[in-house]
Amino acid sequence: MSQQAQIQRLTAPDIARRKGGEPIASLTAYHAHTARIIDPYVDFLLVGDSLGMVMHGYESTVPVPLDLMIMHGAAVVRGSSHALIVVDMPFGSYEESPPVAFRSAARVMKETGCGAVKLEGGARMAETIRYLTERGIPVMAHIGLTPQSINMMGGFKTQGRRQEEWAAIEADAAAVSEAGAFAVVLEGMAELLAARITKQIPIPTIGIGASASCDGQILVLEDMLGLSPRVPKFVKKFAQLGAAIEDAVKCYTEEVRARTFPGAGHVYGMRGESGDQSKAKARKSKTAG
Ligand code: KIV
Repeated sequence: MSQQAQIQRLTAPDIARRKGGEPIASLTAYHAHTARIIDPYVDFLLVGDSLGMVMHGYESTVPVPLDLMIMHGAAVVRGSSHALIVVDMPFGSYEESPPVAFRSAARVMKETGCGAVKLEGGARMAETIRYLTERGIPVMAHIGLTPQSINMMGGFKTQGRRQEEWAAIEADAAAVSEAGAFAVVLEGMAELLAARITKQIPIPTIGIGASASCDGQILVLEDMLGLSPRVPKFVKKFAQLGAAIEDAVKCYTEEVRARTFPGAGHVYGMRGESGDQSKAKARKSKTAG
């Protein structure tokens, strides 16, 4: 077998080794341009099935098809070169049986070039996680608030706020870790419980609405940039891009209607027009605003 170049990106084992070390910083990404911007700063990028709500306007992640995940996953892989890319397995693509999960996950890995998949569920998915990892597919698990189960949970409900719920969630964390997951997302979970689980299991915990003591954090990019119309309490808005887009669009539509855009600097002169002539035109349009 010929020797290929080493993998340059971070890998699932690199993330697993960060347990208890420098916190793992991650974000979601759904398309190539944003992936390119954020890739140098994060350890992994998640192509989350939240793209169904953020990009496609669904009320939940339940309707998202596998083909859509693959399309966005491939775009994020093309737009990045440093971070590990993890692609979410959507509802209906893996729960039926380990072989069904393998077929879906193998498509995701082959057709996107990603380095790992993520799936929701604790103890009930342990057999599937073992089946995938034994066959070469790194798996990130996801427990606590699992959005694909909102129809069973009765909505997006924070988990573990009553102590009697803790044992089952702790058992989920132990089960996915023992089954071979390289990391686990703890979503929408009481802070004390997330901190306890982080101490109990040997794989990194990635918190979202969980605890600062998790081994890493993740947020949906559009939420933390201030683009999403409604966000949960745990989201900190690090920018206000929604307002910035609105200002830019107002300005653009005013200039179009006033015929001040496009100006001389944004149109093509005839070939042969001298540099001095076109520079003078561009200066004139600049002073006109
Ligand atoms: O789909 C998603 O964006 C996720 C994160 C919220 C962890 O699963």
